[in-house]
Amino acid sequence: MRIPLSKPHIPKQVFENINQVLNSGKLSGDGFFCHSTEDKLKKLLNVKHVLLTSSCTHALEIAMLLLDAKENDEVILPSFTFTSTANAVLVAGLKPVFCEIDPNTMNMDMNDVAKKITNRTKAVIPVHYAGISCDMEKLIKLCAPQNIKIVEDAAHGIGAKWKEKYLGTIGHMGTLSFHDTKNVICGEGGAFITNDDILADKAQIIREKGTNRAQFLRGQVDKYTWVAKGSSYILAEPLAAILSAEVDIMNELNEKRGKIHHYYIEQLKHLEEKNILKLPHFSKDCDSNYHLFHIILKNELSRNSLMGYLREKGIGATFHYIPLHSAPAGEKLGYKRNQLPITEEYSTRLLRLPLYPDLTEQECVSIVTEIQNWSQNQ
Ligand SMILES: Cc1ncc(COP(=O)(O)O)c(C=O)c1O
Repeated sequence: MRIPLSKPHIPKQVFENINQVLNSGKLSGDGFFCHSTEDKLKKLLNVKHVLLTSSCTHALEIAMLLLDAKENDEVILPSFTFTSTANAVLVAGLKPVFCEIDPNTMNMDMNDVAKKITNRTKAVIPVHYAGISCDMEKLIKLCAPQNIKIVEDAAHGIGAKWKEKYLGTIGHMGTLSFHDTKNVICGEGGAFITNDDILADKAQIIREKGTNRAQFLRGQVDKYTWVAKGSSYILAEPLAAILSAEVDIMNELNEKRGKIHHYYIEQLKHLEEKNILKLPHFSKDCDSNYHLFHIILKNELSRNSLMGYLREKGIGATFHYIPLHSAPAGEKLGYKRNQLPITEEYSTRLLRLPLYPDLTEQECVSIVTEIQNWSQNQ
C-alpha cells in the first residue's frame, strides 16, 4: 500500500536505549528499563501500580486469573472486540457472555449489560473502542452494588481520559497494549494496571511464573519459590527500552493523531450531511487519544465498494472486528448469528482510514480526495 493503515513512529532515543540494553548484558525482564518505564507510566497515568507485560492479551489473562472464579462464573464483554478479550476469559476457565454495542460509539451498550448480569457475573470488560471511553458512570452504577469487578480493556486507550481519569485506571484493573499498531509501541507489549495493592502483589506472582521472585528481589522474603498458579508474562528488557522512549513522547504522538482526526472530520462532514457516511462522535466526558479513525457507511455493499476503491488507489483502508459471537469459536460456545443484530450490522458497515503520526498532509489530502471522488457515484 502506498499509504498503509498504520505505521509505527520510532524516535532516535530508541536506538540509544537499545544500545544501552545490549551493552548491559541484561536482556530478560524486570531490569532498568522495565522498572523505570513502569515508574514513568505510573506518574503519567496517575495510577498506583503498572506491570509491563508481553502483551495486552497477557495483561487481560492476568486480570482474569485474579478474579479467582469458579466454574460457570461469567464475564460480560462486547462481541465487537479483538479475540484477546474473549480468549483471556476462556484461559481463566470462565464463560464469556457477549453483549450488544451502542452504534454511536461502538462501545458496549450498558442497557444490554444490565440485562446480562446474573448472580454468576464475576466481571465486566468494557473495551474503550478507538480510545473513546465507555459510559463508565452507568457501568459503575450497575457493577458496584453486586461487587462485580470492572476490568478495562484499554488496548486502544493510552493517554485517553474519561472525566479527567485515564482509561484503564477507572475500574478495578486495566490493561494497555503497546503493539506496533497502537499509539505508543514497542513491537509486542502491554501493561496491567491497578490501584489495588493486593491485586498488584498477586499480579506480580502470576507474571513471574507463579513465583515470589519480585518480592525476593525487593528483599521482602528470603526465599524465591513457587507460590501460586502463574505464567511467563513479563516484558523483555529490549522491548521495555523501546517503550521507554515512546512513553516520553506520548502526548506529542497523540496530538499528531488528533490533528489528522480533526482534518478527516472537517473534510468529510459534508458527506455526513448528504447521508453518505457517518463520522465518529463522542461525548464531552471523553478526551480521546485518537487511536483510530472509523466511518460508518450506509451498508456493507457501500463499505466494500469504498474499501475496494481506496485499496486500488494504494490506500490501506480496512475493517474490523468480525463479531466474536458469530465467529467459529463463538458458535462453539453456543452463540448464533442474529443474536446481536446491531453488532452484526455495524461491523459490516465500518471502515477504518489510515491514521498514524507520520501521515503527511499531502497523504491526508490524497485520502480525502479519493473518498470525495468515490462519493460522486453514490
Ligand atoms: C480491544 C483489544 N483488546 C486486546 C488486544 C490485544 O492486544 P495485544 O496485541 O497487545 O495482545 C487488542 C489488539 O489489537 C485489541 O484491539
